Amino acid sequence: MTIRAVVDAVGHYLPERVVPNSHFESFLDTSDEWIRTRSGIESRRFAAEDQTTSDLAVLAAEEALQKAGMSAEELDGVLVATSTPDLTFPSVATMVQSRIGMTRGFAFDVQAVCAGFIYALANANALILAGQAKKLLVIGAETFSRIMDWDDRATCVLFGDGAGALILSAEDGSGTNSDRGILSTDLNSDGRHKDMLYVDGGVSSTGTSGKLRMQGNLLFRQAVEKLSFTADTSLSKVGLSHEDVDWIVPHQANIRIIAGTAKKLGIPMERVIVTVQDHGNTSAASIPLAMAAGVEEGKIKRGDILVSEAIGGGLAWGSVVLRW
Ligand code: UT7
Repeated sequence: MTIRAVVDAVGHYLPERVVPNSHFESFLDTSDEWIRTRSGIESRRFAAEDQTTSDLAVLAAEEALQKAGMSAEELDGVLVATSTPDLTFPSVATMVQSRIGMTRGFAFDVQAVCAGFIYALANANALILAGQAKKLLVIGAETFSRIMDWDDRATCVLFGDGAGALILSAEDGSGTNSDRGILSTDLNSDGRHKDMLYVDGGVSSTGTSGKLRMQGNLLFRQAVEKLSFTADTSLSKVGLSHEDVDWIVPHQANIRIIAGTAKKLGIPMERVIVTVQDHGNTSAASIPLAMAAGVEEGKIKRGDILVSEAIGGGLAWGSVVLRW
């Protein structure tokens, strides 16, 4: 008998304000056409001025709890993947913990930028397999609009705000790839590439939160290779091949990276969940938001094999294979 971390439910929250590409044409030398063709993005959501990352995370968590028919008191822990916390500390996770009415268990944030949700899922899975927790809430939540340099057309048109949440429960499995739940994970980082994507401020350097800086074309060249390799690694760990994959649920940074990775994996775009056109790049929130969209659109069904992969600042990248 093997313990598996099985998905009970997914929830999401997107801020109300929809920002189309045309918004940026009014103050930057850019165009809807450039943004669409280079990134696949048509619009994104921006949080209201008084909305913080924990506000978004709580709304996604509440939807997931409601869909699971579960009360917050049943949870053993909360993990929040974010690089845009409300405060330097305490963690967003402890804020969510109190606001959903959970008074026991543990809560902590995971910071692996755009790969954050993959890292959080892998950690949640490890905690469940180690018998440390039976039910976990895993959230990806971001307000990247707060770290944009609005004069930098190469970055500020790409990112958006949002949150997605999964509830994972320990269940007995057979130990084979026919089990539901997380089947394998693969995590990687290479700190030598820090300058490709970073924020130019922080507590112990400038004392400010800083703005995002990215050498997008350098990162682009790394992305497809690393993402397809990590997806292959996770699949081969559990004896699955490309033909077994029902859905790729990728990090949503750029449609060209998503399509290039799918092509390299030999998986047609009909089996890829794509939300980048409506969400932009929501960093750690993008995968759970795409999972929520895939379920809502009736695409992802119980028993389907999903592979999720992401890459971002660090560089940090990785993948998860799970049976929904
Ligand atoms: O989620 C974290 C991981 N992030 C990523 O994976 C992002 C990876 N990178 C990308 O998605 C793409 O590299 C971008 C969408 C960021 C850029 O696309 P690109 O095809 O790599 O374009 P580029 O950076 O090579 O820029 C091409 C041209 C440049 O002009 P010149 O030097 O050729 O004259 C840029 O200055 O496009 C220019 N440009 C723009 N033009 C109009 C850059 N941003 C804009 C803009 N509007 N917003």
